[in-house]
Amino acid sequence: MPTVIHQTNGESHAHPKSTVIDKLIKPSTLSEDSITSFTTRPLPNPPFDATGIDTAHLTDLLSLITSAVGTVISEYNAIGHRVPALSSTLPGPFDTPDQASPTFTKAIQVIEGACAQLCATVAGPGHTMINYEESACLQIVTSAKISDYLLDKPDGLHVSDLSLLSGLEADKLSRVLRRLATVHCYCEVKPNVFANNRLSMKLLSSDPVGSYVGHVTDECMKAGTYLADTLQDLEVGHSQSPDKAAFPRVLGCGVFDYYTKHKEHGDRFNKAMVGWGRVTGKTALVKAYPWSELPKDTLICDVGGGNGHRTLELVKASPQLMVVVQDLEATLWTKEYPEVVKEDRVAFVPLDFFNGVPVKDCDIYYLSHVLHDWPDAECIKILCNIRKAMKATSRILVHDYVLQHAVRTDMPGNQELAPEPLLPNYGAGKVRGYNLDLNMMAAFNGKERTLDDFINLGNRADLRFVRMCESGETGLVEFCLP
Ligand SMILES: C[S@@+](CC[C@H](N)C(=O)[O-])C[C@H]1O[C@@H](n2cnc3c(N)ncnc32)[C@H](O)[C@@H]1O
Repeated sequence: MPTVIHQTNGESHAHPKSTVIDKLIKPSTLSEDSITSFTTRPLPNPPFDATGIDTAHLTDLLSLITSAVGTVISEYNAIGHRVPALSSTLPGPFDTPDQASPTFTKAIQVIEGACAQLCATVAGPGHTMINYEESACLQIVTSAKISDYLLDKPDGLHVSDLSLLSGLEADKLSRVLRRLATVHCYCEVKPNVFANNRLSMKLLSSDPVGSYVGHVTDECMKAGTYLADTLQDLEVGHSQSPDKAAFPRVLGCGVFDYYTKHKEHGDRFNKAMVGWGRVTGKTALVKAYPWSELPKDTLICDVGGGNGHRTLELVKASPQLMVVVQDLEATLWTKEYPEVVKEDRVAFVPLDFFNGVPVKDCDIYYLSHVLHDWPDAECIKILCNIRKAMKATSRILVHDYVLQHAVRTDMPGNQELAPEPLLPNYGAGKVRGYNLDLNMMAAFNGKERTLDDFINLGNRADLRFVRMCESGETGLVEFCLP
C-alpha cells in the first residue's frame, strides 16, 4: 500500500516522494489503524492553506542538518576532542569563531538556520511567536550575578542558598532559573537545585560576553520596550534624529551621554564591546584583509575605536602596522595591551568625529561598529571629516554587518547566499546582525546596512566603493577618494 501523506480538501493523495517518507516514517512506528485514521480524519475548520509545501522542503532541511552535523563531528574528531556536553562548565575547543575553521562556522550557521526553519514550519505558529520572557530572565540572573555564585559548585546550589547570596526571593528565583534551564542555560540538577553549564558560564561577571548580555537586557531592552511607541508616535516616528530614538525617550539622554553619567554602565558597555568581538570572532578581522601585504609602518587610524581592542589584535598579528586609536577622551582605555602601547606602535588621541578631523595622512581609516550607531546624515558627516584627513592613497575600511534581504535576489559584491531551502541570509543562523539592527534603531535611530546602503553612503560623502571583504559574520567595506 502506498504511504499516504498529504491531504487536500479532505482527499488523500499518494505523494510522489513517498520513498523518502517511507524511510523517515518506519512502518513499525505507524500502525495501519493510525494511518487510516490520519488519512480519513476530517479537516479542521476551514479556511486554511490546503496546498502546503512539498515535503522535500522538510527532508532537504533535514539533509542540510545531517550533513552539517557530520561536519561538526568530523571537525571535533580531527582534533581528538568530543563534542562538549551541555552540562559542561569547561570551554569547548570551538566556542568562538576564532577557534573554528570557516567550514565549522558555516556548518553551525546551517544547523541554527535549518533547525529554526524546520521548527517554524512544522510547529504551531504560536509556539514561535511568543517569547519576551527569556531576556527578562537573563537580565535578572546577570544583574544578580547568579553564575558567579554557582562557580566551582558542580553539584549546584539550592535556590534557598542562592536566595541568601543574591537577595532575590527564593521561589521567584527558582522560576526564573527553571525558565532558563528549559532553554539549556543552567541545569536543574535536582528539584530547585541549579548548576552552571556551558551557556550560563558566559554570564559570569568576569566574562565580557556576560557584560554584553547585561548591556542588551538592561538599557537596550528598556529602549526596545518603547520602540513600538516611538515608531507610532506621530511627532517622532518618522524622524531619523538620534535624539528622537527610543533610548533618549526612555532613559532621558543619548546613549553616550548616558554612559558618561552612569559610569558603571559605561564600563560595562566597553567590556560588552570586547564580548561582542569574542562572540563574532576577534581574529576574523586579521584574516579578512591582506594586512600582511601592507608595507612597514602602515598607519591605521581606528576611528571611534573605543579601547582599541580590534586594531590591537591587528598590531599583535602584523608587526609592520602602527595604530592610532581615536575616540572620545572618556572612552580611551589603554590597559589591555600595555606592551604594544609601550613599544609606541599604538597611540591614543582623543577625537570627536563630528566636530574634528582625525589624524591626517593615515593609510587606513578603520571604523568598526561606528557607522551602525548613526543615521545616514551623521554617517556622512563622519565620513566627510575623515575625507578631509585622507591622502590620495588612503583607504577607509568600514567594519559592520552587511545585511542581506531575506528573499533570494541578485546580490551586489561577492556576498554568499545560503543553500536552498534555507533563507538566503541563513535565517536564524545569522540573526545576530538583524538583532543588532533593531538594537541600533532603538538606541540611536542607527542601522545595520546592506552593501547597496554602504555604497550609497560613500557616494553621498564623495567616496568611491572599492570592494567588500567578508570578516566572519561581518564585512569590511572599502572606500577610497574618487
Ligand atoms: C559601538 S562602539 C564601537 C567601538 C569599537 N570601534 C569596537 O568595534 O568595539 C562606538 C564607539 O564610538 C565612540 N563615539 C561615539 N561618539 C563619538 C564621537 N562623537 N567621536 C568619537 N567617538 C565617538 C564611542 O565612544 C564608542 O567607543
